[in-house]
Amino acid sequence: MAAASGGSAQDYLPDSRDLVSLADAAAGCRGCDLYRDAEQTVFGAGPASARMLLVGEQPGDREDRAGEPFVGPAGRLLDKALSAAAIDRGQVYLTNAVKHFKFTRASGSKRRIHKTPSRTEVVACRPWLFAELQAIEPEVVVLLGATAAKALLGTDFRLTEHRGEVLRAPEADYAVVTTPHPSSVLRGPAERRAAGFGDLVHDLGTAAGLLVSTGRRR
Ligand code: URA
Ligand code: SF4
Repeated sequence: MAAASGGSAQDYLPDSRDLVSLADAAAGCRGCDLYRDAEQTVFGAGPASARMLLVGEQPGDREDRAGEPFVGPAGRLLDKALSAAAIDRGQVYLTNAVKHFKFTRASGSKRRIHKTPSRTEVVACRPWLFAELQAIEPEVVVLLGATAAKALLGTDFRLTEHRGEVLRAPEADYAVVTTPHPSSVLRGPAERRAAGFGDLVHDLGTAAGLLVSTGRRR
């Protein structure tokens, strides 16, 4: 058994790489220390046949309790943006760069406050994301926010410079579009919210347009 520090999700990957086997195996992952304080692994969700895969940062408080990605406030905003871009949530696969909720507690408070995962945690957890990408073979991957973008495109990637562009991950046969994270739209200054939401809808539309134009069917 790998020690929690210096380990990675790689040590927990099952032989069989279909989504159900992956989710089962991920439930027991101890590839980094984040499993210790969280309730459960929040694996990706959606059909194996999805042509579009969306990657967030990590589950939040609500997702940690529910065991499902994007079911809290950020998920509600994402749902609105998907609808506005005419994308059916039921047809896309939703996942996160990191599969356990990382948080701190303000002293004396029960409230769990989101903490951005470290690069070490992102890299430790990435084998799950790679395995999801392999199992699904999406045509388009939407990276929501800087953590997801850096997980797939490298730490030099600057979302502010490249958001909304159609990119390609190294050695990948899917297109990539990066866009603001729904939580950053929610938490941002009020006067930026409408513009941030507009960017998100626009970039989701760009990603959906790639599906129409490639027309690949399985
Ligand atoms: N934020 C994310 O990045 N992912 C979720 O699943 C929920 C909130
Ligand atoms: Fe495993 Fe990822 Fe959870 Fe760390 S965050 S224990 S690597 S599933």
